[in-house]
Amino acid sequence: MINASAHNLGTESAFGVLARAAALGAAGKDIINLGIGQPDFRTPDHIVEAGMKALRDGAHGYTPSMGLMSLRESVAEDAFQRYGVRPDVKRIQIVPGGKPVMFTAMMLLGGPGHEILTPDPGFPIYQSAINYSGAKSVSYGLVEEKGFAFDAEDVLSKITDKTSLVIVNSPANPTGGITPRAEMDQFIKRIADFPHVTILSDEIYDRLVFDTEPLSLLTYPEIQDRLIILNGWSKTYAMTGWRIGYGIWPEKLIDFADRLAVNFHSCVNAPTQHAAEAALKGDQYCVEEMLTAFRRRGRLITGLLNGLDGVRCQAPGGAFYVFANISNTPFSSQQFQDIALEEYGVACISGTSFGGFGEGYVRLSCANSDEAITEAINRLAKMIAQSS
Ligand SMILES: Cc1ncc(COP(=O)(O)O)c(C=O)c1O
Repeated sequence: MINASAHNLGTESAFGVLARAAALGAAGKDIINLGIGQPDFRTPDHIVEAGMKALRDGAHGYTPSMGLMSLRESVAEDAFQRYGVRPDVKRIQIVPGGKPVMFTAMMLLGGPGHEILTPDPGFPIYQSAINYSGAKSVSYGLVEEKGFAFDAEDVLSKITDKTSLVIVNSPANPTGGITPRAEMDQFIKRIADFPHVTILSDEIYDRLVFDTEPLSLLTYPEIQDRLIILNGWSKTYAMTGWRIGYGIWPEKLIDFADRLAVNFHSCVNAPTQHAAEAALKGDQYCVEEMLTAFRRRGRLITGLLNGLDGVRCQAPGGAFYVFANISNTPFSSQQFQDIALEEYGVACISGTSFGGFGEGYVRLSCANSDEAITEAINRLAKMIAQSS
């Protein structure tokens, strides 16, 4: 007999598309992958070196469940350098990726009788983990007309006395949208009226912003006793496969988060923690280089998509995705995804994988070369032309 909650688990269809693209590639088809959300760069050499050195030096045992103290101190220092706020290391937990922070948050704040507010379109694992916990997920829409930024008053209007958690994500997956500081200020000011609500700020893309100042909810002192920060190394340092991230938890939750980690994975593998420390302490030029490439490619793909019949696309404010409106093409979002991959060899993700508001959109990642992006959009142009 299976626990009934298991049937409530969703998935991240980007992994399904990745597997299908790999299978088609192995069968000899020429595939351009604009599907999965990972940088196409290699992890910078000095980070790889630190991981290898740690292994050679014998750092292959368990570490403290919360992570190496020196790494947690580096996270606190990084927050101080970038945002002028030094969170107490006691509240910093190192985990295997950003995802465990969201799952832990849902396990601790979800459950029957609770409501959790989540963006639509949004990262699909939010919804999955909420459903698994038994809580009710309440979506708030992110619309193209507002640059896919959340509307503070709209979010606040959905809070009830059952709301345990509000999830915010800026820069956002899948849209590349950024919530402006003024909107965030308004949200934080008014959330004071709802002291029973915790906030999960998913800041995994906070280093990847193009034309605005990075913004962290760490900089709002009035919510620190009910704020969970999710961040990590995956996107910033091209370290998706190393599996490491961190949560900064409010004091009231940190011991529970640690207890869940001990139950679930004990600790993050030691060499990865050493590599992550080298990433934070080393030269940050590598981040600048990747950011410059993502900015250029974001503009490139936006321009090319806007030249396609029936497609319009906003330039992303950050991250490495565009969320193109394809509602004036003959395809639904799912058809667009399927035909683009199966017949034209372009992997992209249907907007509906991110929620109901994603119908009429597809997500394309710019984590690929200029040449590959240009060729992919040429293929999509053919696909649209041949359908009419
Ligand atoms: C918004 C968002 N949060 C969290 C994650 C998870 O990151 P990680 O690979 O470090 O678990 C992702 C990955 O795609 C993401 O897009």
